[in-house]
Amino acid sequence: MAEPTPWEQVLDYSRRPDPYPLYTELRRTPVSRLEDGSYLVTTYAENLALLHDPRLSSDPSHNPQFAAAMEELSEDMQPSFLQMDPPEHDRQRRLAMRHFGPPHQPERIAGLEPRMIEIVTGLIDGMAGKDRIDVVDELAYPFPVSVICELLGVPPEDRSEFRKWVDLAIETIDPGLDPETQQEKRKEASTELFNFISNLVERHRQSPGDDLLSAMVADDGSEGRLSTGELASTGLLLLIAGHETTVNLISNGILTLLRHPQALDRLRQDPELVIPMTEELLRFEPPVHFVPIRTALDDIEIAGTTIAAGSPVTLVLAAANRDPGRFAEADRFIPDRPDNQHLGFGSGIHLCFGAPLARLETQVALTEFARRIRNPRLAEDPPPYRPSPILRGPLHLPVDIDPD
Ligand code: HEM
Repeated sequence: MAEPTPWEQVLDYSRRPDPYPLYTELRRTPVSRLEDGSYLVTTYAENLALLHDPRLSSDPSHNPQFAAAMEELSEDMQPSFLQMDPPEHDRQRRLAMRHFGPPHQPERIAGLEPRMIEIVTGLIDGMAGKDRIDVVDELAYPFPVSVICELLGVPPEDRSEFRKWVDLAIETIDPGLDPETQQEKRKEASTELFNFISNLVERHRQSPGDDLLSAMVADDGSEGRLSTGELASTGLLLLIAGHETTVNLISNGILTLLRHPQALDRLRQDPELVIPMTEELLRFEPPVHFVPIRTALDDIEIAGTTIAAGSPVTLVLAAANRDPGRFAEADRFIPDRPDNQHLGFGSGIHLCFGAPLARLETQVALTEFARRIRNPRLAEDPPPYRPSPILRGPLHLPVDIDPD
């Protein structure tokens, strides 16, 4: 049997703990064509250029393989603006953004900080008397999930049901799954998620609260309202994006700090370090390793290769973040790295919408962890990982601590 290629090894679960040496191999060819006709982009300059290139579409209908996958979803489910190109992408993003951050709501995210500290304090208080904790189950998961649910107005009693369907939806993007199982799971998850979110939108229309979803439902600004289908797909995008990624940034972050105890000590002495440190974690151990659904609308000449029109393109952001052509000592974790223009949140028109929220949550979680958890030590290294090579992070992170 032929030796698996570096990319096949990246997708293989056994390489989840450390795909970085494979990325080093892959960067030798900045843009490469895979056997299935798709292209892989692994270097910084080429990822950045393509993230800003209007000839690369995020709309799955431009590619027969992606379009077929979309057809497997519930009939009612519309694509979200993550999977759209301008001008429709821009209209829906603007309508959602108006309620989320500056310039219209400059205080929405910053104003959440006291509540974030309260949630994290409660979670850490819950660890009292323990000599071992699971950082994922006891902090990194419940914290951002409570925040995004409160922000959007998902009542506490609905959250466990929602988690079940989100977990299933995330399993369906695992490239290792057999296509029939993938199709079944995708249909089931999308139908249940659509029912869940439409029901929620309707409840917010009838009795609005002081939350983001109510604000989006009631908005009849100059660009008109989002339709019920658009509200459902936007609400779902925010809930799902707000679930998985920040969880992984906090768990990858604590794992990295426990592997670099000097950095943890520095953070204890200088809490302001958390700001550049969070950026460095987004570069060094990013929660989103690659952006898989892009299609070339035209032939694109790049790095001596022509990406043929119609081809699927995968942008390997995590490989770009370790490119020594852009970052000095790229494989070293440098908590106060200067000039850190990482691609952890992407770049260009799809630049992460939730970045200010994710940054603040991670800063609060790391600061409180450093301040309050006594003598933390990794109980298992590497920890067990979640299945996905795309949204990569520990499934559990057992840590021994001195009981409080
Ligand atoms: C550490 C946490 C996070 C990371 C690493 C992350 C990463 C990313 C990346 C790489 C993209 C670009 C995808 C592309 O180019 O196709 C993206 C887009 C997006 N993210 Fe995040 N994200 C995080 C947290 C969040 C949160 C908390 C939310 C919601 C509140 C969110 C909402 C979105 C949305 C709506 C988009 C699509 C933007 C667009 O298409 O215009 N993200 N994110």
